[in-house]
Amino acid sequence: MAVFVFKQMGSTNAECKNPCYAHGDAVVAVEQTAGRGQRGNIWSSKAGENLTFSLVWEADFLAAREQFLLSEAVALALVDTLAGYGLEAHIKWPNDIYVGHKKICGILIEHDLGMAGRLARTIVGIGLNVNQTEWDESIPNPTSIALLTGERRGTNDVFGDLYEALERRFEQLKSAPQSVQTDYLARLYRLNKPSTYALPDGKKFRGTIRDVRPTGELMVEHEDGGFVKPYLFKEIELVLNGR
Ligand code: BTN
Repeated sequence: MAVFVFKQMGSTNAECKNPCYAHGDAVVAVEQTAGRGQRGNIWSSKAGENLTFSLVWEADFLAAREQFLLSEAVALALVDTLAGYGLEAHIKWPNDIYVGHKKICGILIEHDLGMAGRLARTIVGIGLNVNQTEWDESIPNPTSIALLTGERRGTNDVFGDLYEALERRFEQLKSAPQSVQTDYLARLYRLNKPSTYALPDGKKFRGTIRDVRPTGELMVEHEDGGFVKPYLFKEIELVLNGR
């Protein structure tokens, strides 16, 4: 494994598309000028204040249909790292990291599929708020390690802790994938708590997360009717402040 640090670049996820990066390699940017988020959003992070990096994982022991387990392992590594700083984090499905009701980290995972329906190469992009304490009003509900603990931390130290946690969770993914699923559910934000959800057409409803399938679907029990329905990413969104 090797770590490549750039002062400035567009997006570390885009950089990792270059096949010169192999399993375990990480590309860290002090500043991203075109940081990418989920759902086509941009990822905004103040230069030098936070961790913005991408990691290449080759998990060809996983079938393509098991790709959500990899996403779970990454989210759990973030939870582990934050626990080391005294912070109890939860995972907002599919893989946002929350402390309390605020987002401290976003994860953007991109897979390349290989032969026989297996994963070939995965780019794991992580934006973890470390020292930033002020954000543009357009960012919905951000927080950071410094804001929550009152202590600034070296981003290199946080990277080291997180990298080790990622390696440990990767080993668990290889040796005991079922336990990754169990650990993920134990850390799921709003599990068994009635909440408000929005559908792509803007309609809202009250429901309760009852489970997440190993294939990634969110299982939501509708308050009106009592039935449990599976949802894929982009088919449902938790309404923040709709608790
Ligand atoms: C999200 O929208 O929550 C996902 C954000 C992911 C941001 C990280 S920062 C490092 C990596 N490079 C990118 O362009 N995006 C990811």
